[in-house]
Amino acid sequence: MDKFIIKGGRPLSGEVEISGAKNAVVAIIPAVILADGPCILENVPQISDVSILLRILYEMGAEVKMLGKNTVRIDATKITEPVVPYEMAKHMRASYYFLGSLLGKFRRARVSMPGGCYLGDRPIDQHLKAFSSLGAECILDHGMIDIRAQSLIGSQIYFDFVTVGATINTMLAAVKSTGLTIIENAAKEPHVVDLANFLNSMGADIMGAGTDVIKIRGVKALKGTTYAVIPDQIEAGTYMVAAAATRGNVLIKNVIPKHLESITAKLAKIGVNVEEFDDSVRISVDGPLVKTNIKTMPHPGFPTDMQPQISALLCLAEGTSIVTDDIFNNRFRYVDQLRRMGADISVDRTVAVIEGVGHFMGAPVTAPDLRAGAALIIAALAANGITEIEDIYHIERGYEEIEQKLRSLGADIVKKSVPGSAVRKVAL
Ligand code: EPU
Repeated sequence: MDKFIIKGGRPLSGEVEISGAKNAVVAIIPAVILADGPCILENVPQISDVSILLRILYEMGAEVKMLGKNTVRIDATKITEPVVPYEMAKHMRASYYFLGSLLGKFRRARVSMPGGCYLGDRPIDQHLKAFSSLGAECILDHGMIDIRAQSLIGSQIYFDFVTVGATINTMLAAVKSTGLTIIENAAKEPHVVDLANFLNSMGADIMGAGTDVIKIRGVKALKGTTYAVIPDQIEAGTYMVAAAATRGNVLIKNVIPKHLESITAKLAKIGVNVEEFDDSVRISVDGPLVKTNIKTMPHPGFPTDMQPQISALLCLAEGTSIVTDDIFNNRFRYVDQLRRMGADISVDRTVAVIEGVGHFMGAPVTAPDLRAGAALIIAALAANGITEIEDIYHIERGYEEIEQKLRSLGADIVKKSVPGSAVRKVAL
């Protein structure tokens, strides 16, 4: 397995460019199936989740051509079989967006059931409720979700709780239906808005994305388009926290500061200076870091995908912080690993009590999932001594060139590849 070896204690300084948003692009790539012509996607991050989705489209019969490092042309018009087999779907959870896009295009989708994952149980009942409400019949058949509809008719769908995945899948399925679909209690995340903008650029009629009521008037056809993916809010937040944890001074470029507001507000409470510009933010620290309490919430609240990283920072702050994260039931798997580095954290199901310890010590650790891995990198950058992080394939699912970017900011980080080791992939 590849690992990162990080010698901590160097303040990060300089500039870093943020890549396209993982959670937007993993919805936009399957959405290309709905177009009657080729699409060109720009600002596509080079991460393993993207490679897997492009591979799935290619195996299904699409033409996929890289036009540049971050630009891809996809012609999915040659796909005829609305099926994503287990062997392809098992690598990532976001493959369930093929359910919505294949159903929208072919009125039929057969996609392997997404597995549970390290964040805990992740049912898809709200997705299936929405498909049924549009007139589809959903059955589970030998591990495959089989969805068929004679026709898809616009409908009113109320989600029992806010869900990003079901909001996105409903938009994908409803965009070419007949009549009006209204999603109530919709997710408002920036990537939900980005998918709506992408579909609208193909000729869709979607209004209200970014609010809790989204209205989708079905259209007969969607055309190919050229579209640039938004910057990654969570990647930006991760570099903001890394800069703060090392008491550095970093300009984080190609961001949408509005998307970062909840992160900026918490960093300011902790004592971090955040200067906002049109499309960049500068992070610096010149005083003590102090405790704060955090509760994760759907957007525009504090994102669960930033909880492990900011918790690592709170270990370095004075005082006791309380962090509550109940969006998923297993998002504190990094705690054992941080304890190996000297953290004093106790967890009771969805609540962590973090006693500030002021510093970390380097240690061998293992990344249990993507954002937990990012938290370990932050701790390692701030630590005294050397940290070896194993299972970095989790981190590479969602952070483009993290090693190069950190090195350009002055970090002492190297990737050690173990030749011949199997690369395992899991899904979030
Ligand atoms: N849920 C259900 N039933 C459903 C759908 C969701 O019970 O039908 C539950 C989930 O189990 C979870 C909660 O509702 O407890 C919220 O789930 P949601 O659908 O919002 O999350 P998701 O679509 O599975 C996306 C991101 C996650 C991010 C969450 C929350 C993608 C590919 N994944 O997951 O990103 O944490 O929204 O914002 O967009 C990550 O990037 O590290 C990551 C895990």
